[in-house]
Amino acid sequence: GFPSLAELAREAAAQRVGLGAFNVIQLEHATALVRAAEQVGRPVVLQISQNAARYHGALEPVLLATLAVARAATVPVVVHLDHAEDTDLVRRAVELGVHSVMYDGSHLDYEANVASTAEMVAFCHAAGVGIEAELGEVGGKDGVHAPGARTDPEEAAAFVEATGVDLLAVAVGSSHAMTTRDAVLDTELIAALAERLPVPLVLHGSSGVSDEGMQAAIAAGMTKINVSTHLNKVMTAAVRAVLEGPDAPVDPRKWMAPGRQAVQDEAARLLRLYAGS
Ligand code: G3H
Ligand code: ZN
Repeated sequence: GFPSLAELAREAAAQRVGLGAFNVIQLEHATALVRAAEQVGRPVVLQISQNAARYHGALEPVLLATLAVARAATVPVVVHLDHAEDTDLVRRAVELGVHSVMYDGSHLDYEANVASTAEMVAFCHAAGVGIEAELGEVGGKDGVHAPGARTDPEEAAAFVEATGVDLLAVAVGSSHAMTTRDAVLDTELIAALAERLPVPLVLHGSSGVSDEGMQAAIAAGMTKINVSTHLNKVMTAAVRAVLEGPDAPVDPRKWMAPGRQAVQDEAARLLRLYAGS
């Protein structure tokens, strides 16, 4: 079998530690993130979003490459489909061997989100695949993760009960694609949600949260910590330094390797921070 996101997240939640979930855009991300997890001796989630699949023209090449990297790892590595709004993409990912999925029905109204998520839960669970979902609170594209959006604990409890999801993404003050780390999280709400909900909580848009903010969020009961932009920023800075330096290389391996190393170093640091070590 393959590692179970639900199980790893439940273990992390019980221990009040964070489970790092980092996005894979290119093969170099997957390699860097697995090396980081092995270095720290912690599990990691490698996530591929619907947008990343679109960038590659299809899910298959990026998912199969990531699965191959994950399979060779010496620590548990969960390969996860991130932010899938397309139910056909969820089905395709499961057929291709993905370990877990995030079905994002937050663009739908509450009743439609419940119905469609419950259908995806049945499909995923039949294949032994874990499923994370998101509850839309505010309309519009990035609604649930607009900084002002908040998840209501009672509505979230009803949603989890009605759908049977394994993890729930909640809105507690973070917002996607921040390039500064000054988001202010509502740790009291995190504690209330962790107390009320029978499933581990997921924080999206974690790039905007400082180290101290993340430690407080994890202590309050946040479990799966999704980071993408921050590691891309680190990768791009390292690549830029090489390309702006003297004798800028032409061989992509010469400028990608420092980018990959920078992601490994920062991901290892974050995994240690989330583990409280
Ligand atoms: O699902 C992915 C995460 O929510 C990443 O968000 O790029 O703001 O860290 P971020
Ligand atoms: Zn997200």
